[in-house]
Amino acid sequence: MRPLIAGNWKMHGTLREAASLAEGVRAGAGGLPADLLVCPPVLHIPAVAAALGGGAVALGAQDCHAAAKGAHTGDISAAMLRDAGATHVILGHSERRADHGESDAVVRAKVAAALGAGLVPVVCVGETEAQRLAGEADSVVRAQLAESLPDGFGGIIAYEPVWAIGTGRTPTEADIAAIHATIRESLVARFGAAGQGMRILYGGSMKPGNARAILALPNVDGGLVGGASLVAADFLAIAAAAA
Ligand code: PGA
Repeated sequence: MRPLIAGNWKMHGTLREAASLAEGVRAGAGGLPADLLVCPPVLHIPAVAAALGGGAVALGAQDCHAAAKGAHTGDISAAMLRDAGATHVILGHSERRADHGESDAVVRAKVAAALGAGLVPVVCVGETEAQRLAGEADSVVRAQLAESLPDGFGGIIAYEPVWAIGTGRTPTEADIAAIHATIRESLVARFGAAGQGMRILYGGSMKPGNARAILALPNVDGGLVGGASLVAADFLAIAAAAA
């Protein structure tokens, strides 16, 4: 399937910087062997939508609330994201799970809300370093998938080992291939043929230098890129490496 390279801009940049980064991505997006998605801070979504100009680069958010509306100070609903021009939303990122105590049940409710609002969820799973050292990576990821995905799920999975995020460290290619195979197997076991067609992204210190090898692995259908997505040339180089 055609790979997707998604940029998670996290909590970086000014409005002006977000617009100019989006313009840079848009300008280089033609003819790449991958689809592109950028996920700016929510406040920057309208400016990034304008900079992308409805072209080929998709736009997503980094979180949403599980409720459609109501008394939830500081929160944003999936419908608001859709209204502002987003088509995707990252959910269950390990930084949300750690910083905001988001459980699998909370993530599942958010995923259901996103689907209900017509957004494509990008659901993140991944083990901590302690869990990997204890030989639990596989079981942790299986459990996160089982609990974080609602019945009838359709969307994208991102495997992001927590210890690889922002650290410059990545699992071995064999380890990435093994866990992506596990994820594919769980998706197919639960969702049948639809699970075969779901993209499974790798995330965690993906860079222009390691992207080609990672993206060539079986069941790696793209990347979720943090730090390297903040420089348009690096982000585009990762997408070019998907060939
Ligand atoms: P990183 O972040 O590329 O900076 O490691 C990835 C992510 O958290 O999505």
